Amino acid sequence: MRSEQAKPVKLSEYRVADHVVKTVHLDIVLHPTATRVTAVLAVEPHPQGIAGAPLVFDGDGLTLAAIAIDGRTPAPEAYEATADRLVIHNPPAGPFRLTLETVVDPQANTQLMGLYRSSGTWCTQCEAEGFRRITYFPDRPDVLAVYTTRIEAEKKAAPVLLGNGNLVEAGDLPHGRHYAVWHDPHPKPSYLFALVGGDLAEVSDTFTTRSGRVVKLGIFVEHGKEDRCAYAMDALKRSMRWDEEAFGCEYDLDVFNIVAVSDFNMGAMENKGLNIFNDKYVLALPDTATDQDYAAIEAIIAHEYFHNWTGNRITCRDWFQLCLKEGLTVFRDQEFSGDMRSRAVKRIADVRLLKSHQFAEDAGPLSHPVRPEIYHEINNFYTATVYEKGAEIIRALKVLIGAEAFRRGMDLYLVRHDGDAATVEDFIACFAEASGRDLTQFFLWYRQSGTPQVAVATRHDPVAGTFTVDLKQTHLPTPGQDVKQPMVLPLAFGLIGPDGAERPLFTEDGKAVPGVIALDAAQKSVTFSGHPTRPVLSINRGFSAPIVLKTDLTAADLGFLARHDGDAYNRWQAIQTLATDHLVAASRKGAALAGGVDILADALAAVLADAGRDPAFAAQALTLPSESDIARELGAEVDPDAIHAARRALRLAIRSRLDGTLSDALSRFATPGPYSPDAAAAGRRALCNVALDLWASGGEADRLATVAARHRDADNMTDRFAALAVLAQHPGADREAALEAFRERYRADALILDKWLALQAAIPEAATLDRVKALLADPAFAMTNPNRLRALVGSFASGNQTQFNRPDGAGYAFLAEVVIATDPRNPQVAARLLSAFRSWRGLEAGRRTLARAALERVAATATLSADVRDIVARSLG
Ligand code: PHE
Ligand code: ZN
Repeated sequence: MRSEQAKPVKLSEYRVADHVVKTVHLDIVLHPTATRVTAVLAVEPHPQGIAGAPLVFDGDGLTLAAIAIDGRTPAPEAYEATADRLVIHNPPAGPFRLTLETVVDPQANTQLMGLYRSSGTWCTQCEAEGFRRITYFPDRPDVLAVYTTRIEAEKKAAPVLLGNGNLVEAGDLPHGRHYAVWHDPHPKPSYLFALVGGDLAEVSDTFTTRSGRVVKLGIFVEHGKEDRCAYAMDALKRSMRWDEEAFGCEYDLDVFNIVAVSDFNMGAMENKGLNIFNDKYVLALPDTATDQDYAAIEAIIAHEYFHNWTGNRITCRDWFQLCLKEGLTVFRDQEFSGDMRSRAVKRIADVRLLKSHQFAEDAGPLSHPVRPEIYHEINNFYTATVYEKGAEIIRALKVLIGAEAFRRGMDLYLVRHDGDAATVEDFIACFAEASGRDLTQFFLWYRQSGTPQVAVATRHDPVAGTFTVDLKQTHLPTPGQDVKQPMVLPLAFGLIGPDGAERPLFTEDGKAVPGVIALDAAQKSVTFSGHPTRPVLSINRGFSAPIVLKTDLTAADLGFLARHDGDAYNRWQAIQTLATDHLVAASRKGAALAGGVDILADALAAVLADAGRDPAFAAQALTLPSESDIARELGAEVDPDAIHAARRALRLAIRSRLDGTLSDALSRFATPGPYSPDAAAAGRRALCNVALDLWASGGEADRLATVAARHRDADNMTDRFAALAVLAQHPGADREAALEAFRERYRADALILDKWLALQAAIPEAATLDRVKALLADPAFAMTNPNRLRALVGSFASGNQTQFNRPDGAGYAFLAEVVIATDPRNPQVAARLLSAFRSWRGLEAGRRTLARAALERVAATATLSADVRDIVARSLG
């Protein structure tokens, strides 16, 4: 484990490494508990480094078995090797060869960083700072080297040996052993290093790049799971083609391998030529995966593949620049999914995720800039802010400068910085150059934390025929940032006439204007002419700027937009706003006093009537804001029970108004024929399943019987699980029987049982905490596996607002206990679970006190990891 109170790392203190490594030759002899690693490194002083400085390499939990400088063992006083550092006091002044031998214990590596074992397979995870757990190294992304890796193992235990790059040699050795040598010609930082050894099945295919390179594709999985890889392979080939067409990026090695492992801290990792995946994001069959799982697999396969250019060919200078690769690559995977599926629906899903994760993070104590300036533990910065807000900024940039300048900027970036470890400044400079614009103010998006708030008011003068839009931006203080500057917010907009048609946009002096307002001052007013009758403003179309928007649109205006807005995103947003306004009011003062239900129900009825156009869109419209969405809107004095009651009442009110239409939808949108994961079929299923959920929301016995029958008769996991989720909302023997039957049916399938765990953890009933505690002892659960922990404990803490926030504080105490128990084994996962407290300050006083007590209990634990210590300190700070 890392030293306890390490000094924070600051962006302002960046300087180059004094010693860099040009080539790395690794010889790794795999053994369950004593894997020997011999590293031969071509080291040289950095020309801009401090001349004559000692050599200082990073380590983490290492023991040095042997060392040689240019083949000679140095005197013991010439160097110092501790668990976390190697120092050579007077290294040679010029280039030299450093040989290091370390021995590591993969079996004992429960952090899942560095070299570890997952179900008997040896695998690695090096981002961000895991390579230093394998050998001493300048483990920082700006040290780029060419790697050659020889892997040796017992052939029976590990018939498959994989490394980065291309296979250059392989063969048998005496005593049932064998080896493989992999060479990666592309210089890379150590965080992109990977190796895998194990007894795995391979599914292979090929892809021919646009210049005619034939790439051998392999997906490696546990034996018996070969039939679950077809969708991932197809997604990979589509990603490779799309990146050539959309961004001009062609693959650059002869092989591209993906390995699925069952113990993984994150989603997946973009190691050069050897992506390693959480198996959840590879394996899928109609009976094992839901439509959502298929969509996530497609997105993550694409994301990791796209990193080959945005992340690997062009990497980050330091970890402060993490959004340079992550925000950009999320933007790219979102665009890919948008092209593969319904663009509007993809956008809606992305914004939903952004608001529920990133806006919540940005409104609480863990708020940080997309490019932070200080960190104690980099693992805690793989956040919704860096990823999702990082992607939004790029989308906003594209709206601001236009698609053509954006494409020129991207092209310039990919050429100019190929092979570099770059900064966000480097990236933005390419777009400034390509667009001819000064992007200094735009850069505030990277530096200022918090979500900008925009208030919009409109004025109509029927006599002059003018329509004026008054815009005002404000910025709330966030940790470390009390005062902020106005930013540039690109607001895509349109004006809609009473007939529902888009009105042409003219200024007062009759000039045509484009449909984007760049709000670049604290306040701005824009007046349009040619409007004898009042148009309705549709603003922030497509969610062009990631802001909190408050408009003076009336409920009637929103109902009008829900029907007539040419922008599908804003049609959805209008409905969400109607629902949110109602739920916020109802959570404060009770449903009876909150209005707007009729307008909302009418809008939903209209959506359902028109659902044939895009069933997936209708499904999104019928999905009300979540309980945590309402909590975020309330901001302070949050009572999760009041929110739950308000939401439940609204669902029943909507149902009573739409009842017949809902049951009609079930037959109207039934998917004919066998299951296919394509977007159109998935959209029909999504609509049926939200309709089913609403239709049965009263819990009537006959309706639940229908749901149970759908559960039983489903021919795919999407419908089977959706029906089970409806049943789970309604207590009784039938629910328990269905849950038990599901468990029996999938008893051997951990990924499916994760769904079963998660579903139970999310039941909004007082008995759930006891159920969750009982499930900790269920054979389907394992405290050591991140997916199991996230499914059970993560879903409880983040997906069950009323029960995590029990008024007696027992939910908080439970999470604190699990975090404290998990931390010694896996700090990264423990820290992530703990961030479920990110909105605790907004709770009403009683819960706030109890949440603070639980956090303080964690803080008082003697031996916390740097990861958990950082989250708890910032949460309480
Ligand atoms: N770089 C990975 C991705 O986004 C995420 C990751 C980070 C995985 C750290 C493992 C460890 O694609
Ligand atoms: Zn990524």
